[in-house]
Amino acid sequence: MRNFAQILFSLKMKEVTYEGMTFEPYITAETIKNRIAEIGRDIVRDCGNTKPLFICVLNGAFPFASDLFREVEDIDAEITFVRLKSYDGMGSTGKVKEMMGLKENIEGRNVIVVEDIVDTGRTIAGLLETLRERNPAALKVATLLYKPDALEFDIKPDYVGFEIPKKFIIGFGLDLNGLARNLKDIYVLKE
Ligand code: IMP
Ligand code: MG
Repeated sequence: MRNFAQILFSLKMKEVTYEGMTFEPYITAETIKNRIAEIGRDIVRDCGNTKPLFICVLNGAFPFASDLFREVEDIDAEITFVRLKSYDGMGSTGKVKEMMGLKENIEGRNVIVVEDIVDTGRTIAGLLETLRERNPAALKVATLLYKPDALEFDIKPDYVGFEIPKKFIIGFGLDLNGLARNLKDIYVLKE
Protein backbone atom coordinates (compact mmCIF):
# COMPACT_ATOMS: atom_id res chain seq x y z
CA MET A 1 0.00 0.00 0.00
CA ARG A 2 1.51 3.30 -1.06
CA ASN A 3 1.27 6.30 1.19
CA PHE A 4 -0.06 9.68 0.09
CA ALA A 5 3.36 11.20 -0.53
CA GLN A 6 4.32 8.28 -2.77
CA ILE A 7 1.12 8.60 -4.77
CA LEU A 8 1.68 12.34 -5.19
CA PHE A 9 5.23 11.66 -6.28
CA SER A 10 4.21 9.11 -8.90
CA LEU A 11 1.55 11.46 -10.27
CA LYS A 12 4.12 14.22 -10.47
CA MET A 13 6.42 11.87 -12.34
CA LYS A 14 3.76 11.53 -14.98
CA GLU A 15 3.82 15.20 -15.81
CA VAL A 16 4.82 15.89 -19.42
CA THR A 17 6.40 18.95 -20.98
CA TYR A 18 5.94 20.32 -24.49
CA GLU A 19 7.37 23.61 -25.74
CA GLY A 20 8.21 24.62 -22.19
CA MET A 21 4.68 24.01 -20.95
CA THR A 22 3.90 21.47 -18.25
CA PHE A 23 0.85 19.24 -18.39
CA GLU A 24 -0.49 17.04 -15.62
CA PRO A 25 -2.55 13.83 -15.84
CA TYR A 26 -6.25 14.53 -16.31
CA ILE A 27 -8.15 11.54 -17.69
CA THR A 28 -6.55 8.10 -17.59
CA ALA A 29 -6.45 5.71 -20.52
CA GLU A 30 -8.59 3.27 -18.56
CA THR A 31 -11.29 5.87 -17.86
CA ILE A 32 -11.29 6.84 -21.54
CA LYS A 33 -11.58 3.21 -22.62
CA ASN A 34 -14.53 2.55 -20.31
CA ARG A 35 -16.35 5.67 -21.41
CA ILE A 36 -15.87 4.85 -25.10
CA ALA A 37 -17.36 1.40 -24.46
CA GLU A 38 -20.45 3.09 -22.97
CA ILE A 39 -20.81 5.39 -25.98
CA GLY A 40 -20.44 2.37 -28.25
CA ARG A 41 -23.33 0.67 -26.46
CA ASP A 42 -25.47 3.82 -26.82
CA ILE A 43 -24.76 3.93 -30.55
CA VAL A 44 -25.53 0.23 -31.01
CA ARG A 45 -28.82 0.78 -29.17
CA ASP A 46 -29.74 3.90 -31.21
CA CYS A 47 -28.63 2.77 -34.66
CA GLY A 48 -30.04 -0.75 -34.84
CA ASN A 49 -29.75 -2.04 -38.39
CA THR A 50 -29.39 1.35 -40.11
CA LYS A 51 -25.78 0.55 -41.12
CA PRO A 52 -24.34 3.89 -39.94
CA LEU A 53 -21.41 5.57 -41.63
CA PHE A 54 -18.83 6.91 -39.18
CA ILE A 55 -16.94 9.95 -40.46
CA CYS A 56 -13.71 10.42 -38.54
CA VAL A 57 -12.32 13.95 -38.60
CA LEU A 58 -8.56 13.73 -39.02
CA ASN A 59 -6.12 14.13 -37.43
CA GLY A 60 -7.27 14.44 -33.84
CA ALA A 61 -10.17 12.00 -33.79
CA PHE A 62 -8.31 8.94 -35.04
CA PRO A 63 -7.65 7.21 -31.66
CA PHE A 64 -11.22 7.87 -30.50
CA ALA A 65 -12.71 6.70 -33.81
CA SER A 66 -10.53 3.59 -33.79
CA ASP A 67 -11.69 2.55 -30.32
CA LEU A 68 -15.31 3.61 -30.79
CA PHE A 69 -15.66 1.77 -34.09
CA ARG A 70 -14.59 -1.49 -32.50
CA GLU A 71 -17.11 -0.98 -29.69
CA VAL A 72 -19.95 -1.26 -32.22
CA GLU A 73 -19.00 -4.69 -33.53
CA ASP A 74 -22.56 -5.92 -32.94
CA ILE A 75 -23.95 -3.84 -35.81
CA ASP A 76 -23.03 -3.38 -39.48
CA ALA A 77 -21.20 -0.07 -39.77
CA GLU A 78 -18.76 1.64 -42.10
CA ILE A 79 -16.05 4.18 -41.43
CA THR A 80 -14.42 6.84 -43.57
CA PHE A 81 -12.11 9.78 -42.95
CA VAL A 82 -12.15 13.47 -43.76
CA ARG A 83 -9.68 16.22 -43.26
CA LEU A 84 -10.48 19.88 -42.80
CA LYS A 85 -8.44 22.44 -44.63
CA SER A 86 -8.34 25.82 -42.89
CA TYR A 87 -8.24 29.16 -44.57
CA ASP A 88 -7.73 32.37 -42.66
CA GLY A 89 -10.89 34.14 -43.71
CA MET A 90 -10.92 37.90 -43.93
CA GLY A 91 -14.39 38.24 -42.43
CA SER A 92 -15.49 38.31 -38.84
CA THR A 93 -16.18 34.58 -38.88
CA GLY A 94 -12.42 33.96 -38.75
CA LYS A 95 -11.21 30.65 -40.03
CA VAL A 96 -13.19 28.90 -42.76
CA LYS A 97 -12.67 25.16 -43.05
CA GLU A 98 -13.23 23.14 -46.19
CA MET A 99 -13.93 19.43 -45.97
CA MET A 100 -11.70 17.18 -48.02
CA GLY A 101 -11.67 13.48 -48.76
CA LEU A 102 -15.28 12.32 -48.56
CA LYS A 103 -15.84 9.94 -51.50
CA GLU A 104 -18.91 8.17 -50.12
CA ASN A 105 -22.44 9.12 -51.11
CA ILE A 106 -24.14 9.93 -47.79
CA GLU A 107 -27.60 10.65 -49.19
CA GLY A 108 -30.19 8.81 -47.12
CA ARG A 109 -27.57 7.39 -44.78
CA ASN A 110 -27.29 7.46 -41.02
CA VAL A 111 -24.09 9.47 -40.47
CA ILE A 112 -22.12 9.83 -37.25
CA VAL A 113 -19.37 12.45 -37.28
CA VAL A 114 -16.56 11.48 -34.91
CA GLU A 115 -14.59 14.38 -33.41
CA ASP A 116 -11.92 14.64 -30.74
CA ILE A 117 -13.14 17.86 -29.15
CA VAL A 118 -15.83 20.50 -29.48
CA ASP A 119 -14.49 23.80 -28.20
CA THR A 120 -16.19 26.90 -29.70
CA GLY A 121 -18.09 24.55 -32.00
CA ARG A 122 -16.99 26.41 -35.14
CA THR A 123 -15.36 23.37 -36.74
CA ILE A 124 -18.25 21.02 -36.18
CA ALA A 125 -20.88 23.62 -37.11
CA GLY A 126 -19.18 24.22 -40.46
CA LEU A 127 -18.74 20.52 -41.11
CA LEU A 128 -22.38 19.73 -40.30
CA GLU A 129 -23.52 22.45 -42.70
CA THR A 130 -21.43 20.93 -45.51
CA LEU A 131 -22.65 17.42 -44.78
CA ARG A 132 -26.30 18.45 -44.49
CA GLU A 133 -26.22 19.70 -48.10
CA ARG A 134 -25.63 16.09 -49.12
CA ASN A 135 -28.94 14.98 -47.60
CA PRO A 136 -28.09 12.27 -45.09
CA ALA A 137 -31.09 10.60 -43.40
CA ALA A 138 -29.63 11.44 -39.98
CA LEU A 139 -26.56 13.38 -38.92
CA LYS A 140 -25.16 12.96 -35.43
CA VAL A 141 -21.98 13.99 -33.65
CA ALA A 142 -19.89 11.88 -31.30
CA THR A 143 -17.15 13.83 -29.57
CA LEU A 144 -14.75 12.52 -26.97
CA LEU A 145 -14.47 15.90 -25.27
CA TYR A 146 -16.78 18.86 -25.01
CA LYS A 147 -16.21 22.28 -23.46
CA PRO A 148 -19.76 23.62 -23.00
CA ASP A 149 -18.51 26.89 -21.47
CA ALA A 150 -16.56 27.67 -24.64
CA LEU A 151 -19.42 27.03 -27.06
CA GLU A 152 -20.19 29.91 -29.46
CA PHE A 153 -22.15 28.09 -32.15
CA ASP A 154 -25.61 26.58 -32.16
CA ILE A 155 -24.74 22.91 -32.01
CA LYS A 156 -25.23 20.11 -29.52
CA PRO A 157 -23.19 16.93 -29.76
CA ASP A 158 -25.30 13.75 -29.54
CA TYR A 159 -22.67 11.59 -27.85
CA VAL A 160 -20.15 13.11 -25.45
CA GLY A 161 -17.31 11.29 -23.73
CA PHE A 162 -16.43 13.94 -21.17
CA GLU A 163 -17.65 17.46 -20.51
CA ILE A 164 -14.66 19.51 -19.40
CA PRO A 165 -14.01 23.12 -18.34
CA LYS A 166 -12.34 25.65 -20.66
CA LYS A 167 -8.82 24.29 -20.23
CA PHE A 168 -6.20 23.26 -22.75
CA ILE A 169 -5.67 19.52 -22.93
CA ILE A 170 -3.44 17.17 -24.91
CA GLY A 171 -3.10 13.44 -25.53
CA PHE A 172 -5.22 10.65 -27.01
CA GLY A 173 -5.24 12.42 -30.39
CA LEU A 174 -5.24 15.99 -29.10
CA ASP A 175 -2.13 17.92 -30.00
CA LEU A 176 0.02 20.90 -29.23
CA ASN A 177 1.45 21.96 -32.59
CA GLY A 178 1.33 18.39 -33.86
CA LEU A 179 2.86 16.75 -30.81
CA ALA A 180 1.38 14.76 -27.90
CA ARG A 181 -1.25 12.95 -29.96
CA ASN A 182 0.44 9.66 -29.04
CA LEU A 183 -0.05 10.01 -25.28
CA LYS A 184 -2.30 7.23 -23.94
CA ASP A 185 -3.80 9.43 -21.24
CA ILE A 186 -5.21 12.95 -21.49
CA TYR A 187 -3.25 15.73 -19.78
CA VAL A 188 -4.22 19.27 -18.82
CA LEU A 189 -2.07 22.39 -18.92
CA LYS A 190 -0.81 23.09 -15.44
CA GLU A 191 -1.79 26.49 -14.08
P1 IMP B 1 -13.64 24.56 -32.29
O1 IMP B 1 -13.79 24.73 -33.78
O2 IMP B 1 -13.43 25.86 -31.58
O3 IMP B 1 -14.74 23.74 -31.67
O4 IMP B 1 -12.28 23.83 -32.05
C1 IMP B 1 -12.06 22.58 -32.46
C2 IMP B 1 -10.61 22.31 -32.73
O5 IMP B 1 -9.72 23.10 -31.92
C3 IMP B 1 -10.36 20.88 -32.34
O6 IMP B 1 -10.64 20.02 -33.43
C4 IMP B 1 -8.93 20.91 -31.91
O7 IMP B 1 -8.10 20.71 -33.04
C5 IMP B 1 -8.70 22.30 -31.37
N1 IMP B 1 -8.81 22.33 -29.88
C6 IMP B 1 -9.77 22.91 -29.13
N2 IMP B 1 -9.54 22.78 -27.82
C7 IMP B 1 -8.39 22.07 -27.72
C8 IMP B 1 -7.63 21.58 -26.59
O8 IMP B 1 -7.94 21.77 -25.41
N3 IMP B 1 -6.50 20.88 -26.91
C9 IMP B 1 -6.10 20.63 -28.19
N4 IMP B 1 -6.79 21.06 -29.26
C10 IMP B 1 -7.92 21.78 -29.03
MG1 MG C 1 -9.78 18.19 -34.36
